[in-house]
Amino acid sequence: MRHQPASVPPVTPAPELFTWEFATDPYPAYAWLREHAPVHRTALPSGVEAWLVTRYVDARQALADARLSKNPTHHAGPAHAKGKTGIPGERKAELMTHLLNIDPPDHTRLRRLVSKAFTPRRVAEFAPRVQELTDRLIDDFAAKGEADLIHDFAFPLPIYAICDLLGVPREDQDDFRDWAGMMLRHSKPGHSGGPRGGVGRAVKKIRSYLADLIHRKRADPGDDLISGLIRAGDHGEHLTENEAAAMAFIILFAGFETTVNLIGNGMFALLRHPGQRALLQRSLEAGETGLLATGVEELLRYDGPVELATWRYATEPLTLGGQRIATGDAVLVVLAAADRDPERFTDPDTLDLSRRDNQHLGYGHGIHYCLGAPLARVEGQTALATLLTRLPDVRLAGDPADLRWRGGLIMRGLRTLPVQFTPLSG
Ligand code: HEM
Repeated sequence: MRHQPASVPPVTPAPELFTWEFATDPYPAYAWLREHAPVHRTALPSGVEAWLVTRYVDARQALADARLSKNPTHHAGPAHAKGKTGIPGERKAELMTHLLNIDPPDHTRLRRLVSKAFTPRRVAEFAPRVQELTDRLIDDFAAKGEADLIHDFAFPLPIYAICDLLGVPREDQDDFRDWAGMMLRHSKPGHSGGPRGGVGRAVKKIRSYLADLIHRKRADPGDDLISGLIRAGDHGEHLTENEAAAMAFIILFAGFETTVNLIGNGMFALLRHPGQRALLQRSLEAGETGLLATGVEELLRYDGPVELATWRYATEPLTLGGQRIATGDAVLVVLAAADRDPERFTDPDTLDLSRRDNQHLGYGHGIHYCLGAPLARVEGQTALATLLTRLPDVRLAGDPADLRWRGGLIMRGLRTLPVQFTPLSG
């Protein structure tokens, strides 16, 4: 009789990344990577090789590591990878010098300038305008009893809000809505945006509009962010017109699709967790805001808008999670995986709106920590609270399994979110 070998536990095969199934639910694949290959070198669909960092502790270290540069010229990879942070059209040279592509000391100087123009006071003053926009958008579909919450609500809200913040006159804001719509293209899983076709045309239009607006604001400043940037630049610190345009561009794009996804992913999660949603509705009815505040942070952790932080490149050899990274290698920190790490979060796959110990990485970490987080919180809290209060029986229309995600490398968001509710009269 032949001797049977001792049974060896089966090794689960590495999951396939960047398929449409993965775009729909990447969390099982990320759990596998955290467990078996926490710093994992892979070829992206574009052909570019990068290290994926999936554990919380390594992700936090990488986001704060000065040896990981944001400047694409440090990448040893193929030329077509250079300049890709995942922001469509950014390879246009004039728009390249933005916060997510540069290191100190330039980053420190530009971030200080924009922080002066983007103060907590400005965001606080802005809250009533966000509420007004939210109500107006809901008014537009409330009588119909149905809506696509992405197209009719989550998409236009941040566009109009950022236009107001930047100082884009109201009569031009629908043009911006059209251009931004062209940029929210139907991307393929795992691909960064590029200036092709309609996206390229939209970037061109936005670029020339912003250049013209900066000229106009210089001649006739207002109480808006672009005028604030020009003023800050004029008071001793140097800010070129290209830098001002790149800054306005990055604020538009860092603050647009992210907020669309916060509202879309957040509302989708609430609709699929009726117990949590009921708790939130009861607390809103009682006039409380505590659960809303912790709840929006939890929605960011549970299924956040930014799946991977933007690119980083090693300027010298380093070790991350026990893995050697060579000079010139590209590193992608998977925020969505880190924020479900059981080593950091209790029951990480459970949505718990009252979660307190919740230092998630949804807004990043370190010197590139999201500049717009206070505004995103105002927009997210206002949008979700108003939807649940004004449309208390809002529910998904159709099977959630039929919903499609946009794909793309950096962001995670739904293409559509069809809902039904009792129509509001008047
Ligand atoms: C940076 C997330 C909304 C402006 C970042 C980063 C993340 C992030 C993860 C860091 C990226 C990295 O390190 O590679 C989010 C999320 C948002 C949001 C989840 C919504 C829920 C906004 C808004 C604005 C904004 C509304 C502005 C109006 C920026 C800017 C940076 C940034 C300018 C670059 C900061 C720097 O490099 O110093 N954001 N963001 N974001 N965000 Fe946000």
